[in-house]
Amino acid sequence: MVLGTGGTIAGLAKRRSDNIVYAAAQLGVAALLEMVPGLTSVLRGHTLHSEQVAQVDSKDMRFDIWLTLAQRVTHCLSQSDVAAVVITHGTDTVEETAYFLHSVLPPELINRKPVVLACAMRPASAQYPDGPQNLMDAVAVALAPSAAGVVVVCAGTVHTALDVQKAQTYRLDAFTSGDAGPLSYVEEGQLRLLKHWPQTQAGYAFVAIDKIAELTSWPRVEIVMSYAGCSGEVVDALLRTGASTPLRGIVVAATGNGTIHQELEVALRRAVQMGVKVVRATRCAYGHVLAVERAEFEHFNGLSPVKARIALMLALMQS
Ligand code: SIN
Repeated sequence: MVLGTGGTIAGLAKRRSDNIVYAAAQLGVAALLEMVPGLTSVLRGHTLHSEQVAQVDSKDMRFDIWLTLAQRVTHCLSQSDVAAVVITHGTDTVEETAYFLHSVLPPELINRKPVVLACAMRPASAQYPDGPQNLMDAVAVALAPSAAGVVVVCAGTVHTALDVQKAQTYRLDAFTSGDAGPLSYVEEGQLRLLKHWPQTQAGYAFVAIDKIAELTSWPRVEIVMSYAGCSGEVVDALLRTGASTPLRGIVVAATGNGTIHQELEVALRRAVQMGVKVVRATRCAYGHVLAVERAEFEHFNGLSPVKARIALMLALMQS
């Protein structure tokens, strides 16, 4: 099953020569599949079905789309005749959607059947679009023997939801898995697997999708960054009452190994006193925040700031 959500992979420009000036999320997922004539070569006898779940530029990704996507993926994977789900998505927030799905999809489903997110750095109208190859690779990954977990495929490389991060603004090979390295390469429809497929457990962040669906609003968690000359004013502004949704959590994109400017730290203590949960992540692209004894603000085992925010939202949903 191929679910469409939009992105550059479905984008159209006025001219074929336009690689960066275009509108994302224009073509439907069925049209995208028609642009990949070689797909039958990787289908291994399976048939493709498609469904449009959303049509957005992923910079505008919303919680209601995440919820619908999680519900549709769960429904599809629960069907005995569905082998896998591929999702077409924009590159800008695909790491967040992948991590969200990895955190909420029932482990008994994704440990048996994979969810593969496919994206592109050039619009579908480009002279040399990368979407068709990425889509074909994604289907090859989805139907690979033993495939499992939530993964992202781009430029012949497969990344796990936990490690994937967009690291490039322009080049086709836009993603990294940081220190962890990629899960696999896709070469002519074949996988060169470098690690085991990811297996998930119903961990602290796992919240049943039905429970999320009952919420009238998701816990509000914001990200603040620590930097030279930083003050606590952003935190104080966030704490001021009057916002439609009260602040429940702050993720600090901290320097280095989770260190925080002293001015910001003082403001974050005020936030904690007001009942706001504060966690640390690092603004470094590589490496994890290492646990230090009696650290004032906990960290989420090396998650990037955007993924730590999702983990904190899910944790707050449980409390
Ligand atoms: C998007 O994220 O939807 C637009 C950018 C992209 O897909 O590369």
